[in-house]
Amino acid sequence: MLMNRHLVKPDDFSVEEINSVLELGMDIKKNPQNYFNKCEGKLMATLFYEPSTRTRLSFEAAMNRLGGRIIGFSDPNASSVSKGETLEDTITIVSKYVDIITMRHPVSGAANQASAVCPLPFINAGDGGNQHPTQTLTDLLTIKSLKGDLNNLTIGMCGDLKYGRTVHSLAKAMSRYSGIKFVFISPDELSMPKSVKEDIDGVEFIETSSLEDSIGNLDILYMTRIQRERFEDKNEYERLKDSYVLDMEKMDKANKDMLVLHPLPRVNEISVEVDSDPRAVYFEQAQYGMYVRMALIMKLLGID
Ligand code: CP
Repeated sequence: MLMNRHLVKPDDFSVEEINSVLELGMDIKKNPQNYFNKCEGKLMATLFYEPSTRTRLSFEAAMNRLGGRIIGFSDPNASSVSKGETLEDTITIVSKYVDIITMRHPVSGAANQASAVCPLPFINAGDGGNQHPTQTLTDLLTIKSLKGDLNNLTIGMCGDLKYGRTVHSLAKAMSRYSGIKFVFISPDELSMPKSVKEDIDGVEFIETSSLEDSIGNLDILYMTRIQRERFEDKNEYERLKDSYVLDMEKMDKANKDMLVLHPLPRVNEISVEVDSDPRAVYFEQAQYGMYVRMALIMKLLGID
């Protein structure tokens, strides 16, 4: 039962609960007309303390498509945060106005802090370099829809595995399915944090810095951007920013049914020439994000 629950990290939901969100998301994609008025009379707040295109707009599109309404901000300087209001006070006040809250924040742990005082369903839309559970739902729906299964997959995660919150959430979520293997591909400086490796419950993984040598073994290649905004040392960013560029030469070494996912935005880590390869599904993935967020909103509001 997901009604009135928070989603701060993927394992806040059981595998069965996640699967129920994915099933609803698939049905919404197939029969969107059946869902147009499901959230009529409901109001959602989108509180974005950090820039976003996909997450904010797909949440807003999702609620609008369900017949509900939205309030919120995308620039915290236009809210009383700029006068020094605490996160807790902002959440307490907004919860008096709406039925459900989603929030993105640049500080790791802010989602936990906010959800602790939120009397309504609360959704973490990304907190610093920590977690991004609705991106994970998006990724799971994309993989399940296009591969037919979430089990028995070798998943390569490539790029900034240190600061990339999407790979932290996805690794944990996928580790709960069977027959999963991970290949973590990154420069040493941006390797997967120890806490995430400890959290994937004994699932087999290897670590490498070579995309070329690994790509031929993968069912899924999950590319990520080097997260400029998380680097304290900008020279370090400059040194590492071009660590990986997926181009057609590398794609030629991949299996014909490997899928390329990317949470986006991309900078230059996927060459534009790859976009027309049928294995490149990152734009489709962004659309799955809207359907799965429609499903999540309905579940948390107790609407079926
Ligand atoms: N994938 C993702 O979180 O994109 P945005 O930062 O544009 O929301």
